[in-house]
Amino acid sequence: MTDSFYTEIIEGLTKSPKTLPSKYFYDKRGSELFQTIMKLPEYYLTKSEYEILNNQSGEIFNDFSAKQKFDIIEFGAGDGSKTKLLLKEFLKQTNNFVYSPIDISKSALKGLEQTFREELPLLKINPINDDYFSALESMKNKDTTKLVMFMGSNIGNFKYNEEVDFLKLMRKNLSQGDCVLIGFDLKKDPRIILDAYNDKSGVTKEFNLNLLKRINSELGADIDISSFEHYPTYNPITGEAISYLISMKNQQIRIKDKRFEFKQSEPIFMEISKKYSTEDIEELALSTGFEIIKNYYDCKHYFADSLWRAK
Ligand code: AVI
Repeated sequence: MTDSFYTEIIEGLTKSPKTLPSKYFYDKRGSELFQTIMKLPEYYLTKSEYEILNNQSGEIFNDFSAKQKFDIIEFGAGDGSKTKLLLKEFLKQTNNFVYSPIDISKSALKGLEQTFREELPLLKINPINDDYFSALESMKNKDTTKLVMFMGSNIGNFKYNEEVDFLKLMRKNLSQGDCVLIGFDLKKDPRIILDAYNDKSGVTKEFNLNLLKRINSELGADIDISSFEHYPTYNPITGEAISYLISMKNQQIRIKDKRFEFKQSEPIFMEISKKYSTEDIEELALSTGFEIIKNYYDCKHYFADSLWRAK
């Protein structure tokens, strides 16, 4: 991990404009901060998706209309609190399915397995500690319908349209008739979106700065954390919420044997969280080999879980 961490950090800071990969936000502290973010009043995403799954999981089960046996595969399940709502409802109908959460973090999977074994004793669970597509490929020849879940608006964190390649690769590893359920944060009043990434309590700021702290502690760097400010933005036309860290002074930082110059006010591109319209979702499904079965919305229409079938 340290090797690719080091390489990607150096690569990102060598680019112009400078950038850091947001996938590295999630060390122990970063994961704790993200748990806190999900409970913030401004961060509506988790609450909206919770409401969808709490109210509409029965309908999702009917619309998915699987064969006798099926597999539910979840990419990056987190603590599973939202998925639990869906699985609970599915278990009311049948237990003829296996739930396979896939995650690269062994400890996250262990925690999830323990909770689910206690709270959903009827559930057949098969945690897979691998990357998403190796895991999906290993299940390709199973004679079951698959439902791949990619929730929580994680799809919005891909840069440069990489979600298209990701979904095409997902389609390649599925058979016709398999389904995916994807969580999309929707375009809405720009102020509501901006507030979600600019919370009053400063947790999102801390979440971004934590990556600099991680670089200091894991790569022995000398970054003066207090000289960077969190700057969140939202563009209502493209739907891109982008967070930057801004250098507050001219400075040089050192990471091992490498040095990087920052000008006063120079940004580091930290994270994109893309927002979609229903037309954007439709276009994405069609261009990656899927058709939309249905979109499920929360009552405010802030968020959609979209059920797709592989064509
Ligand atoms: C994980 N991901 C969907 C979150 C988002 O909203 O893009 C990460 C996050 N970044 C800042 N707040 C939350």
